[in-house]
Amino acid sequence: MHIGIIMDGNGRWAADKGWPRSFGHRAGAKKVSEIIKYCPELKVKTLTLYAFSTENWKRAAHEVSSLMRLFRGYLQTKYLEVVKNNIKVKFLGDTNPLPKDILLQMKKLETDTNKNNGFFLNIALNYGGRNEIIRSTKKIAKDLLSDKISVNDINETLFSSYLDTSDQKDPDLIIRTAGEMRLSNFLLWQSVYSELYFSNKMWPEFTTQDFEMAVNSFRQRNRKFGHKEYDFKKFV
Ligand code: FPP
Repeated sequence: MHIGIIMDGNGRWAADKGWPRSFGHRAGAKKVSEIIKYCPELKVKTLTLYAFSTENWKRAAHEVSSLMRLFRGYLQTKYLEVVKNNIKVKFLGDTNPLPKDILLQMKKLETDTNKNNGFFLNIALNYGGRNEIIRSTKKIAKDLLSDKISVNDINETLFSSYLDTSDQKDPDLIIRTAGEMRLSNFLLWQSVYSELYFSNKMWPEFTTQDFEMAVNSFRQRNRKFGHKEYDFKKFV
């Protein structure tokens, strides 16, 4: 089963306590580890986390740099744990504008976990669904111009194979915290038949029980994919 999470509400959680927003992001990062560790219990094999959107650069410069510092630290401190625990990490998004040292850490983590297969962790960093679709379209156009593919090869399967999530299944469930009920440019192509679950909890206060509640709610739904009855058990 593949779950996507839009981790919203870090800033509000911190502001409610009279703390700077960066405290909320730090608490959010701790929550990430807690939720990842709970995935095997729920038979969740793939998790895609929306860590930084293409729109997030518009935030105050100090907030953007505190998020970058957080990612840098997180990648450093979690490296061994991720490699040893058979977790395969993949970064989704347009990595070019990211600070070069972070980019190197990301590439190293992807390379060093490439053969892992116990758990699949996608981190969407400078990710936007529209941006991903445009980048994929450009790659297709290049392959078309160099005769690698022809116009008639273009179909949904081929298009999917050019996306950042190329070799992965679409998310079965997308969870968003903090009471907002929209996708905000997250996995636009991949979310066509994803079930959606919204929690009023701010991300730093989202517990493993809340996570389990979301998964249980998903398991009670009848997925039809526009045409048929569906057995969720196939996904676990
Ligand atoms: C949304 O809350 C959250 C973010 C923009 C950042 C998400 C990042 C983390 C949880 C930190 C670490 C992640 C990883 C993968 C290490 P918000 O700031 O928009 O909250 P608000 O809506 O209350 O302002």
